[in-house]
Amino acid sequence: MLLDDISFSVPDGSLFAINGPSGSGKSTLLNILTGIDRYDSGSVRFLGEELGQRSENQMARWRGKHVGIVFQFFQLLPTLTAKENVLLALELAGVVARKNWEKQVESSLRQVGMLDYANRLPSELSGGQQQRVAIARALANDPPVLIADEPTGNLDSKMAIQVFTLLEELAQQGKTVIYVTHDRALAARSTDFIELLDGRIINASTRAYGKAV
Ligand SMILES: Nc1ncnc2c1ncn2[C@@H]1O[C@H](COP(=O)(O)OP(=O)(O)OP(=O)(O)O)[C@@H](O)[C@H]1O
Ligand SMILES: [Mg+2]
Repeated sequence: MLLDDISFSVPDGSLFAINGPSGSGKSTLLNILTGIDRYDSGSVRFLGEELGQRSENQMARWRGKHVGIVFQFFQLLPTLTAKENVLLALELAGVVARKNWEKQVESSLRQVGMLDYANRLPSELSGGQQQRVAIARALANDPPVLIADEPTGNLDSKMAIQVFTLLEELAQQGKTVIYVTHDRALAARSTDFIELLDGRIINASTRAYGKAV
């Protein structure tokens, strides 16, 4: 069993850190929260709904609407510009009406301070700028929750702080941001955290810890 006896709630609008050594189950836990990995016992409730009862297709549609995902290695498509990368996320999710795509791309890029770079390819951007475009892509459908697995893990410390500050601002504006980090300083800026070891919670500071929802 990869995860065991895990029970926690993520408060709306929190900046929620998941900590723990390599192999402790952090990515597995995020993948369960996004419905990418399935769980065979227990329950995950998201905005009052149980996730486990959906088909793969339903889950993918659900994800497009409710969750924005940010990866450690940005995962931008190298042949598309910043703007086209964000646009593709809108097309794939089918949540926002086509007539609003242009406006939505612009507002997402503006939100992360990357509007001036809209026509650049990823290779023409720094790591921190690429990650900001990736955050714009995650924001494009205006999901209530952002999930980020080591979003600053591939950035130097100055860029890591810039990118993290952006996530912090998004949480202050009402998004719920769940992130994995190895960086103690960034973990300390969370509003709530859990620490994993061998698939279990060994330490937690969250307003809702222990309340299974
Ligand atoms: N697809 C898989 N099949 C089987 N075991 C897996 C799979 N993915 C991960 N594991 C195992 O599950 C455990 C948790 O892995 P996970 O990737 O969640 O760790 P992590 O905390 O994210 O580590 P890291 O900090 O290195 O990213 C590890 O023991 C790992 O070997
Ligand atoms: Mg991991």
